[in-house]
Amino acid sequence: MVIKTAEFVKSSGKWQECPEPTMPEYAFIGRSNVGKSSLINAMMNHKDLAKTSGTPGKTQLINHFLVNENWYLTDLPGYGYAKVSKSIRRDFEKLINNYILNRKNLVNIFVLVDARHSPQKLDLEFIEWCGESGVPFSIVFTKADKLKPNVVIKNVEDYKVELHKTWEDLPELYITSAEKKEGGDKILDFIQTTNEFLKNNNVNFDE
Ligand code: GTP
Ligand code: MG
Repeated sequence: MVIKTAEFVKSSGKWQECPEPTMPEYAFIGRSNVGKSSLINAMMNHKDLAKTSGTPGKTQLINHFLVNENWYLTDLPGYGYAKVSKSIRRDFEKLINNYILNRKNLVNIFVLVDARHSPQKLDLEFIEWCGESGVPFSIVFTKADKLKPNVVIKNVEDYKVELHKTWEDLPELYITSAEKKEGGDKILDFIQTTNEFLKNNNVNFDE
């Protein structure tokens, strides 16, 4: 997909405040600091469309970006940020879960996980919750540039083994590096194909 325009629309503190759900929407979610905002910028070819930081907990609201004037890309706060109080963490969790369960035009969630780590309990629990809630999702490995390619492949294989303990069919998996601008094109291809499918089948989220 060619990105002709990508513009920030709005930051929302709850799902009810998000832009009208008139266009297909895709959301990036994952632990704090995993690289959600950076990958959005890399995919949009824009240095600081989404705000990034070396300190976890940068994104605290639901941020909507309108792409090519016909679909939304959403940057969500990270889950599991250890340095905030339990009650704030619960508030974030509620914000994220309510958004996911109520957002009518949400087509697919991209769950980002760090390619450097073995499967983490918190991520697996979130993936499990997506499955139980019937929310379509894909898994995106981030920061692949920090590892040798053979180590990335091994970590992805380990992840698959872990997922196979619960899932017979695995979701789509993507390996990315925001730093090297790699892998985002595959995600954009998926979004383009999905958008065309929705259009051809006259899917209208407003009804
Ligand atoms: P929160 O908004 O806090 O939830 O974090 P986030 O998931 O949006 O992460 P963000 O994009 O802000 O990136 C966190 C840190 O990781 C920053 O210091 C980025 O520069 C770094 N980073 C993100 N993606 C990559 C990548 O692909 N490669 C490398 N080497 N560093 C990355
Ligand atoms: Mg962020």
